[in-house]
Amino acid sequence: MKAKIIGAGSIGNHHAEACRSMGWDVTVVDTDQAALDRMKSEIYPKRYGAWDESIKLFLSSEQPSGGFDVVYLGTPPHVRMKIAEEILEEEPKVLLLEKPAFPPSLVGLALFAAAMKKHPNVAVLVGFNHIVANNTKKVHQLIEKNNLGKLLALEAGIRSHWENIFKAHPWLKGPEDTYLGYWKKGGGAGGEHSHGLNLWQHFAHELGFGRVAEVQGMFDYVRENGADYDRQCLLNLVTEKGLVGRVVQDVLTQPKKKWVELQFEGGSIEWWNDVTKTTDEVIVNVRGKEQEKIVIEKSRTEEFRKEAEHIGDILSGKIKKSDSPIRFERGAETSIVLEAGHRSHGEKRTIAVDYSSIDA
Ligand SMILES: NC(=O)c1ccc[n+]([C@@H]2O[C@H](COP(=O)([O-])OP(=O)(O)OC[C@H]3O[C@@H](n4cnc5c(N)ncnc54)[C@H](O)[C@@H]3O)[C@@H](O)[C@H]2O)c1
Repeated sequence: MKAKIIGAGSIGNHHAEACRSMGWDVTVVDTDQAALDRMKSEIYPKRYGAWDESIKLFLSSEQPSGGFDVVYLGTPPHVRMKIAEEILEEEPKVLLLEKPAFPPSLVGLALFAAAMKKHPNVAVLVGFNHIVANNTKKVHQLIEKNNLGKLLALEAGIRSHWENIFKAHPWLKGPEDTYLGYWKKGGGAGGEHSHGLNLWQHFAHELGFGRVAEVQGMFDYVRENGADYDRQCLLNLVTEKGLVGRVVQDVLTQPKKKWVELQFEGGSIEWWNDVTKTTDEVIVNVRGKEQEKIVIEKSRTEEFRKEAEHIGDILSGKIKKSDSPIRFERGAETSIVLEAGHRSHGEKRTIAVDYSSIDA
């Protein structure tokens, strides 16, 4: 398999290592020679022990085009769409857009959705990798195994101080130096921790409650040193089939808390990520029974390996692209609801979510 990764930053390194662990041929592309040099001499060897000489590095202007099985688009969100349209023309079998797929302006979304129709053979995914992780799989197994009845409430939270992100980018002085410091570019708590909203939407969809129909958003915006980001993003949600719940994302909480809680008629299930550096957890409370806690060993590299395995399954035909829980439409919905959340805050009212840009 041949993989091309656009963006030699933090996520580009994760995907490069995951693809190499799958035995895939890897090419990495960046507009910035310093980023390519940093990948080879600092990030990759520090994270994974040594540079892998088989990885080919190219400036964007000199990149090979066409013939790739998978292209990962790991640039910042606000520069994703123009490149994504160009990559569609290359017709890889899979195109993975990193999360969030779009900044809250949703600029380029309708055009990209239309362009996808001209390339029906390209499976477009969005990199919400928690959805293909073992803890999520375990939650689904436990819902099936236990007779919990109807889902009554759903809550998801990604509350995590962004200090660790800055530790992984020591060349940045602060949020103002990167898209992270600008919510309109897809940064801030709403964009950077959009895994929370996406997890909420995932379970709502998979348990039959459909799309988010209405949203109330409350944001805590910060304007300092030229940056303009939300440090807290709070969303109250209701789906088209009446499921009510909420999402909280912030870049403040230490120690971090990343969870989903599903309250059923007959008990509850909790999904936890990063309980320790090497463990996730799933906690089940079936009414009348002892609590069951399942500890799932994992590593950071494995999180991206699982995503590469999922892509491998799509490439081999084991999973149909239309069945992938990280397919384009699901990821795009996250950006669409986040946009509506910001608008709700600005207009101080509940917003009905409009999906016409991806339904057209
Ligand atoms: N799924 C996850 O868990 C996860 C983890 C980390 C990052 N991400 C996402 O990945 C994206 C990138 O984050 P990051 O931390 O790697 O950022 P980063 O700043 O470390 O890296 C981005 C790279 O893209 C390059 N770039 C910018 N414009 C480009 C262009 N037009 N063509 C080619 N390269 C270009 C930059 O030079 C930089 O090297 C973000 O959307 C982020 O949310 C996802």
